[in-house]
Amino acid sequence: MTTTLRFSAFCALFAPIFCSHLFAQDFESWLVQQQEIAKADLLANIEPPDSVEGIVIASPSRNNDEPNYYFDWVRDGAITMMAIVKLYEHEQDTIAKDERLNLILRYARNARKRQSTENRSGQGDARGLGEPKWHVDNSPFVDDWGRPQNDGPALRARTLIYFAEVLLREGNHELVKELYNRAMPADSVIKVDLEFIARHWQEPSYELWEEVKGLHFSTLVQQRRALLTGAFLADQCKDSDAAVRYRLQAAAIANELRKFWNSDRQHFVQTHKRVDGLDYKESNIDASIIIALLDQDEHPFVAISDQRVLKTAELLRAEMHKHFAINQIYEFDHDGKRMGDAIGRYIEDRYDGVSVFSSGNPWFLITAAFAEFNYAAALQFVHAEHITVSAYNAGFLQHALGNIKVTLELGEVIGHKDQRFATIMNALLESGDSYLRRWRFHAATDGSTSEQFNRHTGFMQGAKKLTWNCAAFLSALGERAKLKAHLEQISH
Ligand code: NOJ
Ligand code: NOJ
Repeated sequence: MTTTLRFSAFCALFAPIFCSHLFAQDFESWLVQQQEIAKADLLANIEPPDSVEGIVIASPSRNNDEPNYYFDWVRDGAITMMAIVKLYEHEQDTIAKDERLNLILRYARNARKRQSTENRSGQGDARGLGEPKWHVDNSPFVDDWGRPQNDGPALRARTLIYFAEVLLREGNHELVKELYNRAMPADSVIKVDLEFIARHWQEPSYELWEEVKGLHFSTLVQQRRALLTGAFLADQCKDSDAAVRYRLQAAAIANELRKFWNSDRQHFVQTHKRVDGLDYKESNIDASIIIALLDQDEHPFVAISDQRVLKTAELLRAEMHKHFAINQIYEFDHDGKRMGDAIGRYIEDRYDGVSVFSSGNPWFLITAAFAEFNYAAALQFVHAEHITVSAYNAGFLQHALGNIKVTLELGEVIGHKDQRFATIMNALLESGDSYLRRWRFHAATDGSTSEQFNRHTGFMQGAKKLTWNCAAFLSALGERAKLKAHLEQISH
């Protein structure tokens, strides 16, 4: 097992006074610095010297005992490229903007090659699109693996559709036409993925953790979102028949997704109709439900601020709090601020980053997702201008409020002019920050992060400098910035 020294926890244990300089930096300036580190680490994992163009490695770790993550996973790649698309969107410098544009186009071109490369997930009728991971020279991975993983094409489509939306806003219709390519659907990177989703979403596949084969909440949410945003793009590209089909299938997926609310257990569940893969995930409550709901567009299957979503998130957090010893051992950071709970994939997890005959740990990208989740929930309340307190969401709100005394009556509507509204919004901002404080506490001093941090010691383990971590961190900061801007407006 690889263990990287994590100074902050070491300091907490042995030498709080001598190490205090490490945390002389205030939280806001740490965020700014860490944002640059995340960008640099993310870019360093794109197109490494021995790869073909448009490749994203999941991590530079490449020995089996590290473990070997030196592959291009379709999911990790799409999530990483979404971060690049957002950098492109907000880039002011024309040279840097051009560089990002070219990188995204190289990624899209490479994706198109992949889509027509025969592999172990299938061929011919495009079933091979669910192939989860590829070598950096673009050859398919041929060993046994949990395949297919059908969230991949959905995430890739979503990233490229979002890119197309940005291009349309910039007036670059030519490039969008090329990417969407209505005239030659077989040559359209976006349409090939959308057609695949529309035709095959009912088929079981492995979920994002590559462990269980069935129908999954997280995969279906991504598939529905790709189809709906894809239908909008199809309309823009005058491909109306396709738009109608994509919307019909998106509605059918929504019908399927409704079955994932378990009213007895009072949470969304992750998997239905399991047909293969591991069988010990009895709780069926999983952080992937939260991850899948982040970064919502205008027509989400369910809003983040929905009481059922908040109930699911709070149940998960409370379980993780009990489950991981570090949540009890390290409650406060070096600023004396309470840290949010370290969050892992699901309670029964046995994957320690290298071996599956072990026990799972908290993950950086999931802890960052919980930060983003809190910011995003607050933003949705700000837009709705009220909160309706219910038996389902009261626990989540109370946890965010912590020691702050605010009375919440079940059934009451707290309007945005009510003083308590601003108090709750600030508490959600603080709650989001508390998860990033947890991140800071367990990260290496150079700001880099491995996949996991040990549930007992807090030391990092598993694949080093995980690309997805950087994307998750940047994404959380994006949501935080939006929330802060709104809260400042409200207070003026
Ligand atoms: C490696 C996968 O990447 C990880 O998510 C999984 O838990 C193990 N294999 C076990 O299937
Ligand atoms: C294992 C994770 O479970 C999976 O989600 C991820 O795609 C791969 N590692 C690569 O990071």
